[in-house]
Amino acid sequence: MHPLMNTAIKAARRAGNVIMRHLDHLERLAIETKGRNDFVSEVDHQAELEILGIIHAAYPDHGILAEESGRKSGNDYRWIIDPLDGTTNYLHGFPQFAVSIAIEHRGRLAQAVVFDPLRNELFTASRGSGAQLNERRMRVSQIVNLEFALLGTGFPFRAEKHLEAWINSFRVLLTHSSGVRRAGSAALDLAYVACGRLDGFWEIGLNAWDIAAGALLIEEAGGLVGDFAGGQEFLDTGNVVAGNPQIYGKILPFIQAHMPPDLKR
Ligand code: IPD
Ligand code: CA
Ligand code: CA
Repeated sequence: MHPLMNTAIKAARRAGNVIMRHLDHLERLAIETKGRNDFVSEVDHQAELEILGIIHAAYPDHGILAEESGRKSGNDYRWIIDPLDGTTNYLHGFPQFAVSIAIEHRGRLAQAVVFDPLRNELFTASRGSGAQLNERRMRVSQIVNLEFALLGTGFPFRAEKHLEAWINSFRVLLTHSSGVRRAGSAALDLAYVACGRLDGFWEIGLNAWDIAAGALLIEEAGGLVGDFAGGQEFLDTGNVVAGNPQIYGKILPFIQAHMPPDLKR
């Protein structure tokens, strides 16, 4: 295993320990509001501190983009970290949340870890070496027909200006697929595309830390990830379409048809 991956797994598991330790006394957690529908708890902060401590001890020169503490510039490597993806779920004890850690090398995603501490599911991928779920090779699904596909999405619950566009895309994809799930953790949604539990996924207005690890998982599991133009700028635009290659190719045009000019990428 690549030494970077070892460190990333250690960091994700430590953050997972913090998350699990507080799960039985959620009512006692200190919670702040970052914006409308945007909460952060002491668990998000503590989990991120654990991750950063481990990275700093092993790779003090690496750059960082972390949700709660921001950016630190560094050498050719950059860690993209969401210490707790699915905070709203977590704060309600709704069992769908994860730790997401990706490592870029010279601007290219190189390593990815998404860890679900509740189910002890560890999703990993190293560029060029495939993707694993708990050390077993994982692949995207082989569903070809959209009518048999199960899709994931996220609501634009913080950016209401995108609600109309999302509802239009939802209407058409709901009526052309087997169903649409909104589970509440984009990182896990993408990991589920990678392991074949979902056949496709789309969401508007995510952040790089929600997407980076999941995107590499999907690519290494044989799937496709793109922005709304079908390009590779999803970490910058935050707009993501993903799926097995067949389903990706089928949902992208539907989504494109319903996006206004400011959401064309
Ligand atoms: C959120 C989750 C959610 C998505 C939101 C994200 P957070 O991350 O991934 O599924 O719909 O847009 O912000 O805030 O819980 O880390
Ligand atoms: Ca997130
Ligand atoms: Ca988060």
